[in-house]
Amino acid sequence: MSQQPRILIIDGEPDNVFRLTGIFHSAGYTQTKGHSEAVVALDCARNFHPDLIVLDLTQNGRKGFEFLRALPGVTHNAFLPVLVITMQPDHAAREAAMLLGATDFITRPHNSFDLILRARNLLQTRALHQALQERNRLLECEMAERTQGLQIAQSELKAAQLDIIERLALAGEHHDDDTGAHTKRVAHTSRRLTQKLGLSDEYVELIFRAAPLHDVGKIGISDAILLKPGKLTPEEFDIIKTHCEIGARLLSNGRSDFLHTACTIALCHHERFDGTGYPRGLKGESIPIEGRILAVADVYDALTNERPYKKAWPVEEARAEIERQSGKQFDANVVRAFLTLDA
Ligand SMILES: [Fe+2]
Ligand SMILES: [Fe+2]
Repeated sequence: MSQQPRILIIDGEPDNVFRLTGIFHSAGYTQTKGHSEAVVALDCARNFHPDLIVLDLTQNGRKGFEFLRALPGVTHNAFLPVLVITMQPDHAAREAAMLLGATDFITRPHNSFDLILRARNLLQTRALHQALQERNRLLECEMAERTQGLQIAQSELKAAQLDIIERLALAGEHHDDDTGAHTKRVAHTSRRLTQKLGLSDEYVELIFRAAPLHDVGKIGISDAILLKPGKLTPEEFDIIKTHCEIGARLLSNGRSDFLHTACTIALCHHERFDGTGYPRGLKGESIPIEGRILAVADVYDALTNERPYKKAWPVEEARAEIERQSGKQFDANVVRAFLTLDA
């Protein structure tokens, strides 16, 4: 309490109010208000914001208890000490008052020294309570600020991660797709396919983020082969095929689900359901689902867009080709989901 503490004195006898007020003033406590009516005192407690209430139960009787009962509605759970004055043998009244929130008792007749000593102790306790509350409030503000700072740092880190993924995907595609349009379209189709297959939202998001890296291994293949306009020789095609393993090596041994998924996608997106794909010739469901999804999304995008060695196919022809390859090149379940997507 930086300023003088405020003391509210309630005693049914106006002379006693006057006497108690005098005692407090003599001890230096000049911010006091006194009332002989408990009901009026309650209003005063609401507006005066006392730091201590001195309540004489010997004169206030039932009204004094009503005052105690109503007091929590005024103090809003802040610690407000109430020093109750009772008659010496009145244990029942003390117990009842204690249950209603009285903080300390002093018996009548009392001397001024005892009264001021009790009052000072209670005021110190209130000051400590207030200091503690203020400290807690500051700590809460500090925590909120730190949490906000952490959230900003996390979202910046997430943005940086997405940037790096996008640039890495672009590095793999820079030969023939320097805008990253192919990887973005494949990622979107893969996301829609994964949703259609009923996989979890978390997994859908994982596929969407990892899909752009499917051809990252092309970074290790020369432009002379990748951009060759005519038909590739069998040797050249064998070199192209190595992009799956190059990509998987780049993305291997990661600690996150994201890198693990991206690595699988890079390695398996050219496997075929009938076992005639590359690089490992995996068959059926031994091909991870992310590989089976990417296979459809990647081929559909390759068919419907122009490449150095071919023109773009009309959407309907490309969809018919995907359907023809159901159970051969592609997983029939994935094809079924694909055919329900809007073109
Ligand atoms: Fe590929
Ligand atoms: Fe691709």
